[in-house]
Amino acid sequence: MCGIIGYAGHRPAVPVVVEGLRRLEYRGYDSAGTAFVRQGDLRVVRAKGKLAALEEKLAGEPVVTATCAMGHTRWATHGVPAERNAHPHLSNDGTLALVHNGIIENYQEIKEDLTARGYVFHSETDTEVLVNLIAERRKSEKDLRGAFAAALREAKGAYAVCLMCNDEPETVYAARMSAPLIFGLGTGENFVASDIPAFLPYTRQVVFLEDGEIVCATATNYETLRLEDLRPTTHVPQTILWDMQAAQKGGYRHFMLKEIFEQPRVITDGLTGRVNGDGDGALLPELDSLPVPERLHIVACGTSWHSGLWGRHLLEHWAHIPVQVEIASEFRYRESLLLRKDDMVLVISQSGETADTLAALRIAREQGATVLGLCNVVGSSIAREASSALYTQAGPEISVASTKAMCSQMLMLALMALYWSGRKDAGDASDTQTKDQRRYLIGLLESLPALLEAHLPGMHENARRLARKYADARNFFYLGRGHCFPLALEGALKLKELSYIHAEGYAAGEMKHGPIALIDSAFPTFALALDDALFPKAKSNIVEVQARQGKVIALANEGLDLAVDDHWVIPRLPAPLSAFAALPALQLFSYEMADYLGKDVDQPRNLAKSVTVE
Ligand code: M6R
Repeated sequence: MCGIIGYAGHRPAVPVVVEGLRRLEYRGYDSAGTAFVRQGDLRVVRAKGKLAALEEKLAGEPVVTATCAMGHTRWATHGVPAERNAHPHLSNDGTLALVHNGIIENYQEIKEDLTARGYVFHSETDTEVLVNLIAERRKSEKDLRGAFAAALREAKGAYAVCLMCNDEPETVYAARMSAPLIFGLGTGENFVASDIPAFLPYTRQVVFLEDGEIVCATATNYETLRLEDLRPTTHVPQTILWDMQAAQKGGYRHFMLKEIFEQPRVITDGLTGRVNGDGDGALLPELDSLPVPERLHIVACGTSWHSGLWGRHLLEHWAHIPVQVEIASEFRYRESLLLRKDDMVLVISQSGETADTLAALRIAREQGATVLGLCNVVGSSIAREASSALYTQAGPEISVASTKAMCSQMLMLALMALYWSGRKDAGDASDTQTKDQRRYLIGLLESLPALLEAHLPGMHENARRLARKYADARNFFYLGRGHCFPLALEGALKLKELSYIHAEGYAAGEMKHGPIALIDSAFPTFALALDDALFPKAKSNIVEVQARQGKVIALANEGLDLAVDDHWVIPRLPAPLSAFAALPALQLFSYEMADYLGKDVDQPRNLAKSVTVE
């Protein structure tokens, strides 16, 4: 949700921290701040708005001598975006500064107690409460680490925090509980951050901190400890293999555009090592020791939920596994949930840190279910807590709007359907695909990168033209049927989150049950009408919209008998794999619309890349 970086080293620390924050800005960007010690004084500089505002403020500060600092880029949870609510927050005595990602659920209770003891609060944040609680515990604990741990043990909720103290100007303290925090080990310098790109130019050696762990770091030393009793923990550092190039714009105007255009590569990478030598089976060794599920529950949020909805069609059709798909925030509070023996739960999350999805995973595990985690971010909480983790290998996705992640999730879902189909086939099940059918489907998957590579530039042109034509629309319907319904949901989500145009994704057959009342000449429809068994039905729904003077863009294949305002032809593929061709068209339309309307494409208002709070 928010971005944190802490640095202890030999370089001027504030520029390192600001540069790290820039690479974390996708996590939140309504205010930013930094803390460092100068001549024994803990100095905090904060600004409302994007990082540039903080940089402007820092221009007037002599910061070069500090070699230890921390920073924060915020996505508001408590209190409006304002300088007083920006992090770091200082304790009343000015000796401690804290940055925080997450929510302290019992902060009101703690605040009342501290207020009674004479503490005063200048912000509406839970973070200011926590830093004062640490200050209070310093009075009874023998050292700062003891006070830090004592305060955190009292805090309920989710957090990743970083702490600095004016008495120890060369040390950063940090801790995590249900929010991401990674430690980076450099040479003569150490880092802690919410995400690896923050420090990747300096080190590839990382430790994924566990929930309930504290790290204390100076330039040349670090210790990890259990929050519970301050006993030391041990870790073997891991090496990050991807580089900054993968997390930079590479000549594209926005990360989102770059990530849309990366989809052919994402498919190639996703297939690498995942197809057997005969080309008729998927290799997913992560699943080899697990039974083929009798039923599968897919749980996810946002775009990942849409991938799950789409994947259901393949899992049911190709592998004959009954699938339920649910939004994680609903799943986690559904009291009557009864998982049956042999049921399996698949949680899907690009970031692997989404709070609701993580909570759903934990509930499913508590109920004894086998939980598979399909994630993009290696070492993320979901990947680590799942019974088995599968990685989408899409590389870092920086744009807040998810694009290539969905493509990679769809590919993995297709591979899972093929894999379980193969297992059932080997066990003589008759209700699944044959070897020949799997060979054909795998061949289609393998053809996707070249097909998309060839068509993406033309799709981009169409998207640009249509976005300009429809830029004055204030509402949009996205309609689809069958496997195109999740795509309609995704198209609408992309349009609303990027361009702030109201858009609804609907199952086309539901229109006549109410929503069609909204249609008039100013309310256009984006219809998915691909060449599959449901095309005649989709066409009827389009005609119904047109009968109410609604304008229609139809994403369709060549040669289909359709009379619409804009017939957008995409390459023909058999359903449901045609989704791989439709998805980039939907993404590009929203991208172009937002860019044309002058919106902040990579960092839309009110959003954050990784939603680590409820
Ligand atoms: O990291 P996750 O896949 O768990 O994230 C889920 C959603 O927060 C995410 O897909 C969100 O809906 C995006 N803004 C969509 O573009």
